[in-house]
This record gives sequence, structure tokens and C-alpha cells, in this order.
Amino acid sequence: TWTTAAFVEEAIREVRAKVGDKRVLLALSGGVDSSTLAFLLHRAIGDQLTCMFIDQGFMRKYEPERLVKVFEEQFHINVEYVNARDKFLSAIANITDPEEKRRRIGHEFIRVFEEQSKRLGPFDYLAQGTLYPDVIESAGTNIDPKTGERVAVKIKSHHNVGGLPKDLQFKLVEPLRKLFKDEVRKVGRSIGLPEEIVQRQPFPGPGLAIRILGEVTAERLNILRDADLIVRQEINRHGIYNDLWQAFAVLLPIRSVGVMGDKRTYAYPIVLRFVSSEDGMTADWSRVPYDILEIISNRIVNEVKGVNRVVYDITSKPPGTIEWE
Ligand code: XMP
Repeated sequence: TWTTAAFVEEAIREVRAKVGDKRVLLALSGGVDSSTLAFLLHRAIGDQLTCMFIDQGFMRKYEPERLVKVFEEQFHINVEYVNARDKFLSAIANITDPEEKRRRIGHEFIRVFEEQSKRLGPFDYLAQGTLYPDVIESAGTNIDPKTGERVAVKIKSHHNVGGLPKDLQFKLVEPLRKLFKDEVRKVGRSIGLPEEIVQRQPFPGPGLAIRILGEVTAERLNILRDADLIVRQEINRHGIYNDLWQAFAVLLPIRSVGVMGDKRTYAYPIVLRFVSSEDGMTADWSRVPYDILEIISNRIVNEVKGVNRVVYDITSKPPGTIEWE
């Protein structure tokens, strides 16, 4: 029978045998896969592991700080924090097309990744939180013909964009490759990852940049981050976080008229997108109680400057997608 303890022990043995005294680079994303991976590898090879976190500036409010803090203070794992916020914002300045936005963010990610891995390196191995379904999906596509080993050609957190440059091909360490998501969660929990990471709802690689429709600006990012934080706080407070596949806010780049006190306002609307789903392929809009929606709406309009209207998305997938871009 499969137990987390046996898995952890076996994975540690395997990593040590494979890596020897070589150095390994790991890019943290904030999700459960890369976090569990970081913890396992640190147990296996200690300082031969370098954890890097590239902050694109598109994560939820307080998440980058929180991630670094959990790793450094709770697990005593040093994180190389790379503040690339300005770079990513410049990379998508004036871009309104969703696919072009994704493409540019992906390219920028590869560029920063390359620059930083050269600065911190050299590394022989790249650790990836590849899971069993990912292995199946990419079967045979990235095998080194000489050694028969899997090599990195893409970076998992941005698997939808860009490949690694030819001179930056690492050998892979993928100790989670036989696991399904629920097993990774069990392993993560058993080694002491906080529930907020273990149960984290899916979050897209390009992050909030694809939840601001059209042009992404620093001002819009701040507005969306504040609205999104209120959504998360209330969902948690009402104990429904784990019932929802995803619950988030979207900012529309239009303005409508409202009234506040005795003044007319002209500001952005926020869309609430709450869905239930098994795998993200299909999804139902969530029948969240009106009382909760009312609290969220009141708080957003009262607390977030620049927003004067909140709407609820009642479209399922298909025909809608979960994200708005
Ligand atoms: P859609 O919007 O296609 O989303 O219904 C399905 C699931 O995929 C996530 N998603 C992404 N994840 N990069 C990612 O890493 C992306 O560009 C991306 N777009 C959508 C989405 O959050 C949902 O869970």
C-alpha cells in the first residue's frame, strides 16, 4: 500500500542517487507541486539545492511575501527572490490581445529565468514538479537521444508558452512524476506544508495579468489585488474556500456610472467568477449564497477606490471558459 512516509523515503534515496554532489535549480511558483518538491529536495540534498522565485508582479496580494516567509522561517530553506515586476509590466505595456499577453509573459519568464540561472549557477539539474498526468501528456517529446534521460525543454509553470534556449538545457529531477494531484497534497501535508498551500486553488501562470481584460497597468493591478483579497477573505471567513474549484475577481477595462454619498462616480466594474469543477475542463458557476455575495460586493465598492460596481458571472463552461482571457 502507498504511504506518504514510504514515498518520501524512497524519493529522497532516488534523488541522492541521481544527483550525487551536483547542484540543482528549482523555480518555485507558489503552488503545491513546486513547494512539495522544494521541501523533498531540501531534505535530500540540502544546500546543493537552489530555490528561486521569480516575482512577475501578477500574484495575489501578500502571496510572494508569504511564500518566501514560509520557506525561510518555517522550513529554513533559503529562497532567491527575484523582483522582476517592472520587467514584466513593461513587457506587456499597451498589449490588449490575450494570447499576445501570454506569449510575452512566457518569453519574459524564460529570459529572466536564463539570466538568473546564469547568475546563480552553473547547475546540472533542473527540478520540476512534473506529475503523472504531465508525464503522459508529454510522453517521448523530451528524451535526450544520447542518454535516454528526460531533459527540460520547457518550464512547467508556463507549459503553454516558449521553450528553453538551446544552451540552457538541464537534466531533470522529477521525484513527483508518479503522483496524482491528491497524492502530492497528501505528501505536502505530511511534511508540514501549510493548508493554504496544500489546498491552494489553481492559479494561472500569467496570474492577474489575464484577469485584467485589455491593457495591464500598475494602477489596475493594485485595484484588482485589493478586490481579489476581499474575495479570498470572505470565502475563507464563510468556510467555502475548499468547496470551490476557483473563486476570483476580474477587472473590466470599462467604466460605468455610480453614486457614492452625494457624488457621481465613474469607475471600473469587478466581475466575481466562482466555479465548481472536477478538473477544470468543464465547470459550473457556483450557487454561492446571496448573503455572501452581498458582503463581498459591499466591501469591494466601499474599500477599493476605483471600483463602483460588482457583477456575478453565471456562465458555465462550456460555453464560457473559467478565466475571462
Ligand atoms: P479556462 O479559462 O481555459 O481555464 O477554462 C481552465 C483552467 O486552466 C487555468 N488557466 C491557465 N493556467 N496558464 C496556466 O497556467 C494559463 O495561461 C491559463 N489559462 C487558464 C484556469 O485558471 C483554469 O483552472
